[in-house]
Amino acid sequence: MSDTLDCRICGGTLHEFFDFGRQPLADAFVDPNHPGQEYFHRLAVAQCGSCTMVQLLEDVPREHMFRTDYPYLSSGSSAMQDHFRATAGHFLDHELRDPDSFVVEFGSNDGIMLDTVARAGRRHLGVEPCAGVAEAAAAKGIRVRNAFFEESTAAEILAAEGRAKVIYAANTFSHISYVDSVFRGVDILLDDDGVFVFEDPYMGDIVERTSFDQIYDEHFYFFTVRSVQNMAAFYGFELVDVEHLPVHGGEIRYTLARPGSRTPSPEVARFLDREKILRLAERPTLESFATNIDLLRDGLRTLLVRCRAEGRSVVGYGATAKSATLTNYCGIGPDLVSFIADNTPAKQGTLSPGSHIPVRSPEAFADPYPDYALLFAWNHAEEIMRKEAEFKRRGGRWILYVPELHIV
Ligand code: SAM
Ligand code: TMP
Ligand code: ZN
Repeated sequence: MSDTLDCRICGGTLHEFFDFGRQPLADAFVDPNHPGQEYFHRLAVAQCGSCTMVQLLEDVPREHMFRTDYPYLSSGSSAMQDHFRATAGHFLDHELRDPDSFVVEFGSNDGIMLDTVARAGRRHLGVEPCAGVAEAAAAKGIRVRNAFFEESTAAEILAAEGRAKVIYAANTFSHISYVDSVFRGVDILLDDDGVFVFEDPYMGDIVERTSFDQIYDEHFYFFTVRSVQNMAAFYGFELVDVEHLPVHGGEIRYTLARPGSRTPSPEVARFLDREKILRLAERPTLESFATNIDLLRDGLRTLLVRCRAEGRSVVGYGATAKSATLTNYCGIGPDLVSFIADNTPAKQGTLSPGSHIPVRSPEAFADPYPDYALLFAWNHAEEIMRKEAEFKRRGGRWILYVPELHIV
C-alpha cells in the first residue's frame, strides 16, 4: 500500500488498496500473424481520502485504448438493445418532448441508444472517437461526430447545433480520467433546465460480488453515490437522481442538473444512507475486498488446474475486456482454457490480450462441446445460457465466478 498521487477529482490524497501488477490493454486483441509489441501498464486502484472517489493510479493515453479498430460492439447483446431502447424511450417521454429538443450522447459506439431517438425524428448527435464503431452508427442513419467529448468538442457542437436538453453517456464517463474538461463541456452545452445523465458499474456491486474483473485500463473511476455527489458539487452540478440498474453486473444511472433547477429524488438520500450502513467508503471494506480478490483467484485457479489434471476440456465464453484482468491476474492461459467463443467479428481469429487464448466464433463452441465453459461474459449469463441451451442438455456445465465461484 502506498499513498502517493493526488485525486484526479479533488486533489486529495490517494490511498492504494490493490495492485494487479503489469496488465495489457483489455481491448487490444492480438493478431497472431502480426503479434507486434503489446502495451502493458501498471493496474492499481486507490481511494481518495477526501472525496472518496475510487480510481486507477495510472491512466493509459486515450489514443491507445480508443483506436479506429476498437473491437467492442454494443449491439452484440439483445438484452442491452432492450435496455437502451427503454432508455431512449424514457428520454423521449420525459426530457425530449419538445419536438426541437436536442440530445448529445458521448461514447455512442454503434448507435445502440441513438437509433431509437433517430427513428423518433429527434435532433441528436453521437460523439464517438473510434472511427469503426462510429461508421457502424452512421450507416444506420445516426448523426455522429468522430471525436473525443471534451471542452473543445462541446464548444464546437454548441456553435453548430445549440444547447442540449440531455447529455448522456453509458459505460463511458467512468472511462475518462480528464473529467474536468468533460464537466466544462457539459457546462457549455447543457440547457439551463437540461440533465447530464450517465450510467456506469457501481462500486457497491463490485465489492459485494468481488467482480474485480471490472477493474481494467478503460474503467478509470469506480463510482458510488457519495463520490458522484461530491464530484458533481466540485464541478458546479447537483446530483438529483439515482437508479440502480441490473445491466453489466450492477450499475447506477446518475442524473445531474444545474444546482436548484430540479428537486432531488429521495432515492439519492436513500442510497447515501445505504452506502453509509455498508461502510462502502471505509478502508476495512476495501481491504476485505482485496482479500476476497485473492481468494477468488486461488479458488478459480485450483478448479481449472483440477479440470486439466482430470482431462476435462474447458472453453471460455465471451472475450470480454473484463476477462483480460481475470486471465492475466489469475495466470489463466491456453493451457487451462483452450479457446474463447465470442460473437464479435473483430475479435474472432485473434488472441486475448496478454494471456493469448485464441478467440473463435460461437460455432466453434459446439464443435464439439467442451466439458466446462468458463463464462467470462457473466453479465450476459441469461442471454448466453439461453442461446447455448443445447450445451447443458448434452451434459456440459457452466463455471461462473460472480457473485461467487460456482458450477451450474
Ligand atoms: N455506450 C456504449 C454502451 O454502453 O454499450 C459504449 C460503451 S464502450 C465500453 C465505451 C465507448 O466510449 C467506446 O465506444 C469509446 O470509444 C467511447 N469513448 C471513450 N472516451 C470517450 C470520450 N472522451 N468521448 C466520447 N466517447 C468516448
Ligand atoms: P461485455 O461484457 O463488455 O458487454 O462483453 C461481452 C462480450 O461477450 C463481447 O465480446 C460479446 C460477447 N458475447 C457473445 O459472444 N455472445 C453473446 O450472446 C453476448 C451477449 C455477448
Ligand atoms: Zn478526491
